[in-house]
Amino acid sequence: MKKLLTFLVSMICVVPCLGQRICAYNPIPIPQEVTLTDAEPFVLDNSVSIVCRGFNAQMRYNADYLQAYLKDVCNLNLHIGTTGSKSIVLIRKNNKKQSNEAYTIKIDKRSVVIEGNGDAGVFYGIQTLCQSIASTQGDVQNEPAVTLPSARITDAPRFKYRGFMLDFSRHFFGKEFVMKQIDAMAHYKLNRLHLHLTDAGGWRLEMKSHPELTQKTAYRTQSNWRQWWDDGKDRQYCDIGTPNAYGGYFTQDDMHEIIDYATKHQITVIPEIEMPGHSEEVLYTRPDLSCTNNYRTTGDFCIGNDAVFDYFTEILKEVSELFPSEYIHIGGDEAGKQAWKTCPKCQERIKKEGLDGVDGLQSWFIHRIEEIVNGMGKKIIGWDEILEGGLTPGATVMSWRGESGGIKAAESGHHVIMTPGNPLYLDMYQDAPPFCPEAQGGYYPLNVIYAYDPIGRIAPEAAHLVDGLQGNLWTERVETEEHVEYMIWPRLLAISEIGWSPTDRKDYDDFHKRALREVARLEADGYHPFDLKNAVGDRREYVIPIKHLALGKKVNYLIPYNSSYVAAGETTLTDGLRGNWIYGDGRWQGFIGRKGCVDVVIDLEQETEIHEVYAYFMQMVGPGVFYPGMVEISISNDGENFETIKHLTYVTNRDEPHGFRDFSWAGNAKARYVRYKANSGATGGWLFTDEIIVK
Ligand code: ACM
Ligand code: ZN
Repeated sequence: MKKLLTFLVSMICVVPCLGQRICAYNPIPIPQEVTLTDAEPFVLDNSVSIVCRGFNAQMRYNADYLQAYLKDVCNLNLHIGTTGSKSIVLIRKNNKKQSNEAYTIKIDKRSVVIEGNGDAGVFYGIQTLCQSIASTQGDVQNEPAVTLPSARITDAPRFKYRGFMLDFSRHFFGKEFVMKQIDAMAHYKLNRLHLHLTDAGGWRLEMKSHPELTQKTAYRTQSNWRQWWDDGKDRQYCDIGTPNAYGGYFTQDDMHEIIDYATKHQITVIPEIEMPGHSEEVLYTRPDLSCTNNYRTTGDFCIGNDAVFDYFTEILKEVSELFPSEYIHIGGDEAGKQAWKTCPKCQERIKKEGLDGVDGLQSWFIHRIEEIVNGMGKKIIGWDEILEGGLTPGATVMSWRGESGGIKAAESGHHVIMTPGNPLYLDMYQDAPPFCPEAQGGYYPLNVIYAYDPIGRIAPEAAHLVDGLQGNLWTERVETEEHVEYMIWPRLLAISEIGWSPTDRKDYDDFHKRALREVARLEADGYHPFDLKNAVGDRREYVIPIKHLALGKKVNYLIPYNSSYVAAGETTLTDGLRGNWIYGDGRWQGFIGRKGCVDVVIDLEQETEIHEVYAYFMQMVGPGVFYPGMVEISISNDGENFETIKHLTYVTNRDEPHGFRDFSWAGNAKARYVRYKANSGATGGWLFTDEIIVK
C-alpha cells in the first residue's frame, strides 16, 4: 500500500503542469537499460549545482561542458561547486574490468548521479543526460526547469570503435569545420575520426621534413575534383600562393588544436597516409620515387627503390609524433601494380625476396612499412588489401570491399573494423536519386544502414575481434561543407546506434522518430543534415509488385544478361518485381557488350490478346548506364516468324544524370510470343531493365 501511495504521489508530480517540461530518456544511441523507478522526480532548475568527485582536468572539462550545455540549450544557470542540497554529481571510477566508456545515471528527488568508468564514461553519461533534457518539449525561455523522472540508466558500448572517415584530399575542409563535426560526433558517442589526408587530390598535412608536399600539391587548378581529374593531361597542381588555386591543408598547429579538441570530446583522431597507391601528389614532388619517373603514368611508389622506405620513415616519424593515436592508417588499397610489372627495380626486388609477383610485392611492402610503424611504437590499420599475402598480428584490417576481407581477417586472428561499401559508404545516395545531388551509384538510406550488423556473418568465436564500424565519406562529388553535413547526418546517427546500443534495444521505427528529432536539433544548431522528414523513400514500383499477362511466364534469352548483374536470373523480367532507385539492388538486370544488348522472347503459353508491351530502363550517367538507343517489339504465334509492331530510336540526353523511362508499344494484337529487343545505340554503355510488362 505504501508503495502504491508513493507511486501515486510520484505520478502526480510527474503529470505535467502548464509549461512543465518532462524528460524522457531516449537519446541516440539508445542506452543499454533505462529503468524508471517510482520515487519522486528531480526538478532541474537554477538551484541545482554541478558537483565533481575525482577532480582532474578532464573532469573539470566535463563539468564545464555540462554547465555550458544547460545554459545554451535550456537557459539554465547552474554553478559548479563541491556540495549542494540538490545537485548533479559527477563521479569518476576506475573499474579495469569494465569499458572506460561505461556509465550509470541514478536520478532521484535530491540528485542526478552520473558515475562514469573513467573520463569517457562520465562524458558519455553527460551526453545522455544532455540529449534527454534537450529533447523535452516546451518553452525554454520562460520555463527552463525540467522534470527528470526518477530512474536508473545503465549503459556501455557494444563496440569500442565507432568511427567516421572524411576524405580531405579530393576536397578540403578546414579546422573549424572539423571541430564542428567533433561536437556532433561526441554528442552521439562516436569516438574515432579517421582523416584521409593524402591522395591524388592533394596532400593535406604540413610536413616539416617535406614542406614541398603542401607547398606543391595542397592546391590545384580546379575545385571540382571530377572535372580536374577528368582533365587528364591538363590536370595540374599549383604551388602555394598561386592566384585562384583551390585547396588547403592543416598546419601542424591546426592539427594539434583538432587533436586536443577531439581528445576532450573522447575522440581519437586517426591519420591516414596512403601508400603504396593513390599517391600521384607525392610522386609529383618526388618523381624519382615512382617506377616511371612520371606521376601521370602511375600513382604507385616504386617498391624496388630503397629510397621509398627512407622517405616513409621520415614521414611516418613525424606523423606518429604528431598524433597520439595508437594506430596509423597506412591505406594500402587499390595499388595499380602495372608499373611494377615492367620496372627493373621492382622485378629485382621480387626476385631477390622470392616474392609471388606484384601481389607478393605489395604484401612485402606492407610488412616493411608495418615494421617501420611498429618501431615507432604504433600499430597499423589498413584497407582490406593489406590482408593479401599475410599480416602480422598487430595489424587491424578495415574491411571495405564488402565484408569478406573483415570476416577472413577476424577468422585468422586480426582485429577488424567493418566499413563495407554497402551500406557504410556515405558518398552513396540516401534518398531517391532524382531528388538528391549527384552521388556515387549506391542507394543506402537510413533504414538500410540501421539494419547493418558488423558481426552478422562472423563466426561467434571470432566476433570479439570486430572492434566496430565506421561510416566513410569520400568526397569526389562533395565539394562544400554543407554538402558534407548533408551526406553524413543523419546517417551517422544510425552508425552511432549500431556501434553503441545492444541489438535487443534496436528498433527502427523508434530510432526513426528519435532521428527526426535530432535532425531538427542539428538544423537548429547550424548543421545541414538531409531533410529526413521529407524523404521520398523507395521507388513506388519497387514497393508494389505488378500483375500482367507475362507474369511468371518463361523468358528465352537470345542474348544472355551480364553475369555481374543477374538479378533473379531467368525469372527476373517476368516476376512482377521491379527495381529500386539503383541498378545493384538485385532486381535490375544488366546487359552490355554486344549490339542488341537485350533480346528476349516471352512465351505467353497460348495465343493472347495484348494491348500494351513496355519495359522501364534506368539511366545513371556516372557509371555509364543509359537508356536504349533502339527498341524493337515484335510478336509471333509460332515463335519463329515475328512481326515487328514497334521500332523506335532514341537519343539520350547525357544531362539527365539519373532517371527512368519506359519504352512501349500500345495497340491491339493477338500473339503467343512477344520479343523485346533493345540496344544501347551510339551511346554505348550498360542497359538495365527490371520487367517486361505485357497487358
Ligand atoms: C577505398 O574505398 N578505396 C578504400
Ligand atoms: Zn619500381
